[in-house]
Parts: sequence; structure tokens; C-alpha cells
Amino acid sequence: MNEYVRTRRPAAGVVPRILEPDNAVCHANAMDDRPRQLFMPGTGQLPPYFAGRQVEQRTLLDCLDVLRDGGTVPADIVMMGPRGNGKTALLRWFDREIVAARAADAVSLTPDDITHPDDLARVLFPSILDRIGKAEVKVPEVGSMSVEGGRVGSLTRRLISRCRKRPGVVLLDEAHNLDLDVGRALLNVSQRVRAEAPFLLILAGTPNLVDRLALMGASFWDRSKRLDIGRLDSAASFEALAKPLEEHGGVVAPDALDSVVAESQLYPYFIQVWGDALWAELRERGATTVDADIVAAAEPRFHERRDEYYANRYRELRREGCLPVASAVARAFARQTSNENPTLTDEELDHAVGAALPSADRSAQKAAARLRELGYIWQPSGKIDWEPGIPRLMGYVLNPRTGGRANP
Ligand SMILES: Nc1ncnc2c1ncn2[C@@H]1O[C@H](COP(=O)(O)OP(=O)(O)OP(=O)(O)O)[C@@H](O)[C@H]1O
Ligand SMILES: [Mg+2]
Repeated sequence: MNEYVRTRRPAAGVVPRILEPDNAVCHANAMDDRPRQLFMPGTGQLPPYFAGRQVEQRTLLDCLDVLRDGGTVPADIVMMGPRGNGKTALLRWFDREIVAARAADAVSLTPDDITHPDDLARVLFPSILDRIGKAEVKVPEVGSMSVEGGRVGSLTRRLISRCRKRPGVVLLDEAHNLDLDVGRALLNVSQRVRAEAPFLLILAGTPNLVDRLALMGASFWDRSKRLDIGRLDSAASFEALAKPLEEHGGVVAPDALDSVVAESQLYPYFIQVWGDALWAELRERGATTVDADIVAAAEPRFHERRDEYYANRYRELRREGCLPVASAVARAFARQTSNENPTLTDEELDHAVGAALPSADRSAQKAAARLRELGYIWQPSGKIDWEPGIPRLMGYVLNPRTGGRANP
């Protein structure tokens, strides 16, 4: 991984280097040593430059410092955001930081690793198994009276003693898919261990993780530290594109990336898709300068990939039976023509969902929850209104055949 990602404390506000165009001529041969894959449009890959998450990175590193000093942290961390905004990338970045700093034992998990509470002891610091033996590691049904005096207690004590020797961090991605019993047990263990030893649990998931955690036990989650992983700002989006290009000998002509940043809609996945398209075009031409020509030539590649992404999301909504509700919600957002960044109140959302499924209140709630899970809508922390999760997906849902354009 390159130095940007490895940098422990990323420099903020670095002004991109703009070289003069006559530095930009380069022969195709010299291009050969440029990596084929520079940007990382995909799932969970660390991008070549991890932009705009300084606040979240700072929060995580501060926790790590506390743990390293033998201290305890007051709460679990819950990372939440619509799909494609970089939750997994942030977890991955932190995992690498922990390893690089040798400050703690980190375990990265997904719900597939823990389908039953019995799995907890196995996945939480596997070396514990060697010391306490198989017979003791089973976790009894959580919520039963045996939790207090039972083997969860035993696991907790072992973890406390282990974390006192060496801090422990659990990074659980896709936590919105966590089995409820497993989740309850995990939150229970985390609360107890965290109170007495350097231990940190981080849960990452799509916006409906709120509902899932509430089902596991509201008292646990509503006091956790919440990190919202939404879109980037313009400056960070620019850096995410310009820095890797410049790092690899590219030259960004003044204003060339303005339209790219605007079209990426500040959405991390689209930023990587754009970067990939620009990079492919540069390599193909043996060029180094990103100018209006390169941007225009790369645009169809971006559009193709973006529309493929929208089509996949559209098919997913249809597969989940959410299309009528998604369309109704999209229409409700579209009606807010006076607002550049439209939002819906709870009542407006309920109304739109209810109108699509008039006779089944419970399934309407389920459908709305599913829309949150799919990243279609979300409610950033501290806001009381709903926002679209994936930019312009709603336009696509309303006009899939025209790629989201109302008047082709
Ligand atoms: N801060 C960032 N700067 C630049 N690119 C980023 C950033 N964060 C993530 N990306 C890129 O955005 C894309 C989506 O990231 P990631 O898969 O981590 O999102 P996610 O929130 O985990 O999505 P999902 O909910 O679908 O799992 C990836 O291509 C990743 O490289
Ligand atoms: Mg992810």
C-alpha cells in the first residue's frame, strides 16, 4: 500500500501540485512502469488516497492511543453509512494502523464468522482457546439468566485478563446482518470487558444498523460513539483524484477536474470509478496531463460503470420487492423542486411508503427498513430528516431506461 494510506496522521489541507503543461509530455515507453490498477473502484478496497476522513481517523487513533496506554474507552464505536461510502475501507485502514503501531490485537470479522453465540469465544482472540480449553468456550443462550454467572461471564473474565496484558480491538463489518443473539452476547461481553480493560468494539453497517442494534438492546447502542460515513466534500473528492495521479507523475491541468468532481457527486465509489477511467485513458494514450480532452475521453467509461452500478441497485430493489416503495419515495423527493438537497421528514417518508403499500402497515415499515439497508435513504447523525443514500439513484429508479434522465 502506498504511503498515503500508511501515513499514520494524514496531513490535512495539502494543496495539489499543478505542473506546467510542458512538463507533461511523456513517451509511451516510459509509461510502462505505471501501475495498471491505480484507483480501486470496488468493495472495501483501500483507495490509493484515503481522502476526507480525518475526523474519523483522528477519533480512531485517539482510541488506539488510549488503549495502548492501558486505558479504557467509554463506548463501542458504531460506523454507519449508505453503501459505497467507505465503511469497509475505513475499517481496513484502521486495522492496518493497529498492526503498524503494534498497539493491540485486532480481529476483523463479518457476521458470517459468528452465526451462533457459541462462535464468539472462537473468534474473539482465538489464542484464548488454547488456554481455556474447548469445554469452557461455549456461550450459553444470551438473555437467559445464566448469562450473569455462566460462561459469558467466564469468557468476559478471560478477555479482561487478556486485554490487560495486550489491548484488543474487534472490527465487525456488515454488522446490520448480525444474528440478534450473537449481537446481544457481543455487546454484553464488550460492555463488561471495556469497563475493566483496554478493549474496543467497532461495528460498521448500513443505516438500518440502528434498528438492528435497537433490537439487540437499546441501552447498549444509544450511548455508543457514532461515526457517520457519508459522502466526501469537494476538496476531499478533488484530493482523492489528484493526489494519486500526481503521485504517479500525472499533471492536473487547472480546472480539469472540476466537472469530474461534480459528476462524481462526491460519492467515494464514483470517485474511484472516475479515477480509474482517467487513469486508463492516460495510460492508453501514453499521456501524463489530465486536461479537458482526457476528461471528455474518459467520460463514457465512467458513465458505463456508473449506469451498471445503478442497474445493479435497481435490480436489487426489484429482487427485494422494494421497487414500488422506492419509486414512491423517489417521487416524494422529486417533488421538492425548490430544494437543491431535498430531504423528507418522518411523516413525509411514512406517507410515501404508505401510499405504495396502503393496506399493510407492518410490511411498509419493513420495506422502509429495507430501503435503509440498501442505502437508498438515510438519516445522518444529528439530523432528523431523511436524505437519499446513493446519489441520483432515485432519478434512475424513476427513469431506468434513460439512465435517470427525465427528458432524454
Ligand atoms: N475516503 C475515501 N476516499 C476515496 N475513496 C474511497 C474512500 N472511502 C472509500 N473509497 C472507495 O469507495 C468505494 C466504496 O468503499 P467501501 O466498499 O469501503 O464502502 P462501504 O461503505 O463499505 O460499502 P458497502 O456498504 O456496500 O459495504 C471503494 O472503491 C473505496 O476504495
Ligand atoms: Mg462495506
